[in-house]
Amino acid sequence: TPPSVIFSGIQPTGIPHLGNYYGALRAWVDLQTTTPTSTSLIFSVVDLHAITIPQPPGALQIARTEMLKALLALGLCPDRCTIFEQGAVSAHSELMWILSTITRVGWLERMTQWKAKTGQEGGKGVVPLGAGDKKGGEERERAGLLCYPVLQAADILVHRATEVPVGEDQSQHLEFTRQCARAFNAQYGKEVFVEPQTILSPAKRVMSLRQPGKKMSKSDPDPRSRILLTDTPDVIAKRIRKSVTDSTTGITYDPELRPGLANLIEIYCHATRRSDYETTAEEFDKKGMTMSDVKQSVTEAVVEDLRPFRERWSDLEKAGETWLAEVRKKGNDKARESAERTLRDVKDVVGL
Ligand code: ADP
Ligand code: NA
Repeated sequence: TPPSVIFSGIQPTGIPHLGNYYGALRAWVDLQTTTPTSTSLIFSVVDLHAITIPQPPGALQIARTEMLKALLALGLCPDRCTIFEQGAVSAHSELMWILSTITRVGWLERMTQWKAKTGQEGGKGVVPLGAGDKKGGEERERAGLLCYPVLQAADILVHRATEVPVGEDQSQHLEFTRQCARAFNAQYGKEVFVEPQTILSPAKRVMSLRQPGKKMSKSDPDPRSRILLTDTPDVIAKRIRKSVTDSTTGITYDPELRPGLANLIEIYCHATRRSDYETTAEEFDKKGMTMSDVKQSVTEAVVEDLRPFRERWSDLEKAGETWLAEVRKKGNDKARESAERTLRDVKDVVGL
């Protein structure tokens, strides 16, 4: 059996919010203690994926640095993990090209996310129009958006990842990655790539604090809808106090009828590492807690859970850019080494 390699990526969206944290990033941090040290942990800030949606270059640079800093402040240890920027490791893009010569266009056109983003099959066509993008249909869509899964496959295969922790929405892309690996191995008659396994993270969806029917998101224009990991205890308290709930008496866990309260109870449970939402609500209710008491408890739990992050974040601010630059270089170098090893094998097999 190949050595265990766990790979995952996150887009450089700046400072993560509670949804990014409980939905994805905390699991990365946990892997450091739940896996044996023989397991490689490789985490990427996927800036090449981010540019499929146009954005100002300066903003991308800032967002990348903030995400990197946040990963470190969350407790990812640069000695235990490889933490790197995708764009700094050109083997990812090279392998993407080679894999795109294997990929069939139909495989890409079948991707649910592509269909949703291009408005097919009831999708909303959420890709924002950029300058010069006034035309419709295929004249509007950028090829990068269609080819995105090939780059994702390259990210995974170039590090010979054996396991990829992702949310449910990514499982089709992982199936696509295995299809690329199989097709490449078959075409060249050699087992160059390992087929990675999907590790489905149990769905933890943190909802907007203003519209609990929507997920908490960076792209929500209302900043009161989310809590950023760098928010001060005062801001956290204010966001939770002003969060949209209801005026029904008693505390119950009812995501259908009381979505705002249910979201707060879930956040409380994530922050205190409990898993039984109903029991938690019953306990709150038995204590005779009001909605404002619940908000107070949720605030305390979140402030406490984020305390180590806040401390490390402020240490990082003090340590200055030099330390960050060193960590960044070390991570990018380690990733380059791992990726170039695979790329060399691939090129040999292809005859390049
Ligand atoms: P955003 O929606 O804020 O732009 P991304 O799409 O960049 O976030 O998601 C980054 C990671 O965080 C993904 O793994 C995604 O599943 C997770 N994530 C994002 N928002 C939430 C949320 N509200 N609840 C749980 N997980 C989330
Ligand atoms: Na998003």
